[in-house]
Amino acid sequence: MSEETQAGQVIEDEELDPEAETRRRLALAQIRQWGDPALRLRAHEVEAFDEDLNRLVERMEILMHDARGVGLAATQIGVLLRLFVFQPSEDEQLRAVVNPRIVASGDETEVDEEGCLSLQGVKVPVERPTTVVLEGQDETGAELRLELEGLGARIVQHELDHLDGVLIIDRTDDESRRGALARLRPQPVLGAR
Ligand code: NI
Repeated sequence: MSEETQAGQVIEDEELDPEAETRRRLALAQIRQWGDPALRLRAHEVEAFDEDLNRLVERMEILMHDARGVGLAATQIGVLLRLFVFQPSEDEQLRAVVNPRIVASGDETEVDEEGCLSLQGVKVPVERPTTVVLEGQDETGAELRLELEGLGARIVQHELDHLDGVLIIDRTDDESRRGALARLRPQPVLGAR
């Protein structure tokens, strides 16, 4: 891994040039944020592997890249389809996974801090299995089976949670949840009536 720390869904501690920073902000503005009901809904199975799906995958890949994320689920852009994109590091292939399901998880678990593109400024500890086997389809409909460990395993579990309306604050301890919720509560606007 490079100097950047990658936790959950977000690449952190990164110095971006002004143009990249502008692209990041524009991308984040298109990603649903805490309080948006779409983040709490269960997405539906994808049945049509058509042009529309390909365009959606392309859009999600660009948004994830521009937002400096390592994963993005369709529900995060308000599309209730079972689909996510992920890329644990720049050396690894960017993949789209359609109708994903975890068919096996290792016994070993690990607690690590996770962030989320939909919960900006929040990082909470989440315990997850360190290895998983993920099955699903790619954007063409071809069957996919991935054996993942470490960050890759963590990311796909985070993204699959999104497709079921589950967020990291649901997976953390009570104290971390309280801290995160306090941070997410909209700040009062001074002078507003
Ligand atoms: Ni997320």
